[in-house]
Amino acid sequence: MNAPARSALGLLLLSAVGGLFLTLSRPGPSSADAAPPRFTSSTECRACHEELFDEWDASHHRLAYENPEVRRLSDDFRNKECQACHLPRPIAETGLLNRTLPRFTRPSEGVDCLTCHLDGSGRIAGLRASDQGCAPVANADLLSVRGCETCHNQHKTTDQWRASSYARDGITCNACHMPQVTRADGSLGRKHVFEGCHELDMLRSAATFRARREAGEVVVETTNSGAGHNFPTEERHRAVDVLVRFVDAAGQASAWERVWRFRQPYRDEPGENTQLPAGETHVDRLTPPPDAVRAELRLWYRLNPYATDEDEASTLLFETEVALE
Ligand code: HEC
Ligand code: HEC
Ligand code: HEC
Ligand code: HEC
Ligand code: HEC
Repeated sequence: MNAPARSALGLLLLSAVGGLFLTLSRPGPSSADAAPPRFTSSTECRACHEELFDEWDASHHRLAYENPEVRRLSDDFRNKECQACHLPRPIAETGLLNRTLPRFTRPSEGVDCLTCHLDGSGRIAGLRASDQGCAPVANADLLSVRGCETCHNQHKTTDQWRASSYARDGITCNACHMPQVTRADGSLGRKHVFEGCHELDMLRSAATFRARREAGEVVVETTNSGAGHNFPTEERHRAVDVLVRFVDAAGQASAWERVWRFRQPYRDEPGENTQLPAGETHVDRLTPPPDAVRAELRLWYRLNPYATDEDEASTLLFETEVALE
């Protein structure tokens, strides 16, 4: 970095985080001579990683502690067990694959930059080391699937991924959840929004839904064609439903009827795990009533198993129809 850039950086730092990193702004032979900066809040990252910061700011990771759904189910975090992953200390503190410890500061930051990027020695962990900016050290392990696994295997998402062709082909969580982006300054990065089941395009990319007529039956095929784990994955609340209704020659439609539900039941609920593993197809064969001229089919995603079609927790993923005349 040249001297003007270095002093511009210094100004930025001064305005953003006070005098803490004063040493960095001093023109000198190399910033490596200065003590590496120490960070105590994600807001300190914004000065130099603004666009990335805004991505994370809009993410469910950022929301993890303020999320009204989580607050409701944790009795406003009076259930202390919930805080360990929804307001965590850096994962490197407890070590990969070990349960994180709860943090009691910066509630609005939830799962923050420091959670994933602070290494055991308090330095920033990146994929490669540098003496510029925050002077990151290389720690690819912390940023690998094992990092995600530390919090995301409670409901076996990581195990499901390991059992899939994606793991064998080296397609990691980040290939889908941190796609490559070109930022305003032209640099290549990884998107930090972590889109999942709250985003329609992401949800639709999980499945294909087809129906056809075959020997007097309606055959409906749902394929997990795009999720790198079971569909729906994670939380036991999630459900994916196949619905049908039949229409007669007079245009009269029957009520919508559920023919199949993909779901991992609650622990105290009877029934098997019917989540659809990566790459697999589930087939429903339906016998239409004799007077039906058309079958209409829908695939719904539900954030919780009690949501009706009208509920905002339900998202219509696909609809299709089959002529029966
Ligand atoms: C003073 C500006 C500055 C601040 C503040 C800053 N960074 Fe950086 N950061 C940089 C620069 C510049 C680079 C690129 C270094 C290089 O490529 O040589 C970088 C690189 C990184 C990398 C490594 C990227 C890679 O290629 O692997 C990570 C991770 C990172 N920063 C995270 C953070 C986090 C988290 C924070 C806040 C806790 C933070 N940074 C604060 C300037 C900063
Ligand atoms: C081992 C770490 C861990 C613990 C402990 C934990 N969670 Fe979570 N929680 C997660 C992860 C990871 C997700 C994201 C996966 C998902 O959305 O299905 C999540 C998601 C959620 C969601 C869905 C949020 C949304 O907007 O859809 C709710 C609600 C939730 N957790 C409630 C709780 C409650 C209540 C507790 C305590 C009883 C708790 N969690 C304890 C890791 C944890
Ligand atoms: C310290 C624990 C922790 C780590 C590490 C972690 N997550 Fe999460 N993640 C969570 C929690 C908690 C949530 C749920 C937040 C909420 O909705 O309240 C979540 C939510 C998500 C979601 C769902 C977002 C949505 O809107 O549905 C995705 C996708 C995700 N994480 C991917 C990843 C990936 C990929 C990694 C590894 C690079 C990772 N996470 C690392 C705790 C963690
Ligand atoms: C091939 C692409 C792909 C890969 C690889 C992948 N995912 Fe996903 N993920 C998806 C899609 C599509 C969805 C939305 C459908 C769903 O919820 O199952 C999703 C949903 C999620 C959710 C939201 C679930 C919820 O209920 O809130 C989490 C969390 C998540 N993935 C974590 C991971 C983790 C951790 C890994 C790596 C072990 C991973 N994913 C690998 C495509 C992928
Ligand atoms: C849930 C974990 C997680 C959180 C939270 C997180 N990161 Fe990252 N970050 C990663 C992973 C994993 C990679 C490496 C992705 C890859 O290349 O495979 C990464 C890559 C980066 C990079 C290099 C790629 C790029 O886009 O420039 C920078 C810089 C960075 N993170 C900074 C930050 C900052 C700043 C924050 C907070 C605003 C943050 N990260 C929050 C996991 C996280």
